[in-house]
Amino acid sequence: MSSTDYNSDTITDMIPEPTAAPRVVVLISGSGSNLQALIDAQSHDRLGGEIVAVISNEPDAYGLKRARDAGIDAVALPHREYESREAYDGALIKVIERHEPDVIVLAGFMRILTPRFVQRFLGRMLNIHPSLLPAYQGLNTHARALADQAARHGCSVHFVTEELDGGPVVLQAELKVSADDTVDTLKQKVQDREHLIFPIAVQWFLQGRLQYTGEGATMDGHRLPPHGMRLSHDDAAEELDEAER
Ligand code: GRF
Repeated sequence: MSSTDYNSDTITDMIPEPTAAPRVVVLISGSGSNLQALIDAQSHDRLGGEIVAVISNEPDAYGLKRARDAGIDAVALPHREYESREAYDGALIKVIERHEPDVIVLAGFMRILTPRFVQRFLGRMLNIHPSLLPAYQGLNTHARALADQAARHGCSVHFVTEELDGGPVVLQAELKVSADDTVDTLKQKVQDREHLIFPIAVQWFLQGRLQYTGEGATMDGHRLPPHGMRLSHDDAAEELDEAER
């Protein structure tokens, strides 16, 4: 560097650029109430990153409107326009990568993912599932919990692996099932808990506290138990201002 370079420096040149916020891409298929919880967390500086795109396989998903209303790039990528799951996931990879995400958040993305897709984003993809995993993987979790007269139900955030709803669990919120619960009441209570824990898990990930390893998930360098961390019924109820049940 020549002396003229020094002379031409201004104080502004010396101020480092602000570090760019970590980038979040959210995949949805429907209403997007979890997406809304993530948007709300971001607007309160509690997400630890910026949602740069929302992608839906269902062009009419209400979540796309939520994204647009929040000024977020909303992309419809209809799976019906692709001849195979592989072709669709290939296109989805391209759209996601264009946004250079640090984390991919599956918020009600109702698609089975191809191994290629999972491998591409392994370790930086989180999903929310409406049960206390490993119980009730797959669909109709509330009806199945009721049919089993399960005493407890809830939701889980987990890393996505090739096993459907089988990746390492990071965080769960628990719910005591009451005698008068129906599928609808359970769904509502579980979703309230989803909205509570999902942004927290995303923030932990973006802060580098939460990591995926081949053997499971770690938090602050410590291996998590198989059910991850767990918010008790009472703590969640208090957080949500639920009346005594
Ligand atoms: C949530 O209940 C989530 O657990 C499941 O799909 C639902 C999505 O709801 N994976 P929303 O679109 O976030 O309202």
